[in-house]
Amino acid sequence: MTNMRVLGIETSCDETGIAIYDDKLGIMAHQLYSQVALHADYGGVVPELASRDHIRKTIPLIEAALADAGCSKDDIDGVAFTAGPGLMGALMVGATIGRSLAFAWDKPAVAVHHMEGHLLAPMLEDDAPAFPFVALLVSGGHTLLVRVDGIGRYQILGESVDDAAGEAFDKTAKLMDLDYPGGPRLAKLAESGTPERFIFPRPMTAKPGLDFSFSGLKTATATAMAEEVAAGRDNQQTRADIAHAFQQAVVDTLAIKCKRALTQTGLNRLVVAGGVSANVSLRAQLSELMTSLNGEAFYPRNEYCTDNGAMIAFAGLQRLKAGDTEPLAVRARPRWPLDELTAV
Ligand SMILES: Nc1ncnc2c1ncn2[C@@H]1O[C@H](COP(=O)(O)OP(=O)(O)OP(=O)(O)O)[C@@H](O)[C@H]1O
Ligand SMILES: [Mg+2]
Repeated sequence: MTNMRVLGIETSCDETGIAIYDDKLGIMAHQLYSQVALHADYGGVVPELASRDHIRKTIPLIEAALADAGCSKDDIDGVAFTAGPGLMGALMVGATIGRSLAFAWDKPAVAVHHMEGHLLAPMLEDDAPAFPFVALLVSGGHTLLVRVDGIGRYQILGESVDDAAGEAFDKTAKLMDLDYPGGPRLAKLAESGTPERFIFPRPMTAKPGLDFSFSGLKTATATAMAEEVAAGRDNQQTRADIAHAFQQAVVDTLAIKCKRALTQTGLNRLVVAGGVSANVSLRAQLSELMTSLNGEAFYPRNEYCTDNGAMIAFAGLQRLKAGDTEPLAVRARPRWPLDELTAV
């Protein structure tokens, strides 16, 4: 059988990610442009600015990726683009460019679900997980526990009823005056925190169930900050201690629910993906959990935790191989439930 090579385009939010993935050779090129600096002054992503910047960056990054991989359009067997969920304008840029390029090159196109991309990212590693497994998807917009029996065979076991885990990190960082994007900065600050000087709740763990709620942890943080300020103890160590308490509460809550999901499904493989899966403390605790359960935890390498084109090229290739192709119309879905995907 000959190999298959796919160009992946990711533009769902504030990163333009382009990659070329070959099912024999692996990742041949990987280009990423982050709009962080563009949105920093606003403290969050401004959708219209995001779309315009994707327009500027997508085609030059595709050209750079082709050059890096030493390929021409004739070496590409298909084009995969993120079609949702995400910001409508931003998605439309990638979908329009992806669909049009495939048409011009006379190659098939495939629309990829952004969270399926995240979910499959650990399969880009040498030590790829086998099906079935439980996946914990923790990103800026999602917190999902999913039973995965194969590509497109997803059963949602639990999700956040309010803020996503990454969103909770970002909002909490903002109220502690950390610069945007705050999640990784808050995690860094937590490293020098004193364990258990502050203890925050582990939301929704007392009752059975696999859903999450993280919005209350913002309030716990704001209250602790206000009390320390009033007591004249607002200093760097106090802030680090509060950051530590916040992170520990999120990590413990995620670990408790993962353990529950594994028990409920009887599975012993855990895949962790999405931006928050880069969190060192979360990885340490989940790996320890999996060792204690005689199971194994799988993560993407750091650069594939947050948004990237490699995961889209990979997911797209799996779907193209199964004959999944996109009609000629340009289609994007800002909301797109993961469990609506078809199995391959
Ligand atoms: N080390 C870290 N610790 C905690 N959070 C982190 C860390 N690194 C990144 N994050 C968080 O990950 C999120 C970004 O991840 P990602 O790019 O997967 O999300 P997104 O694409 O914005 O959302 P979605 O994938 O749900 O559409 C941000 O909320 C960021 O704060
Ligand atoms: Mg993402």
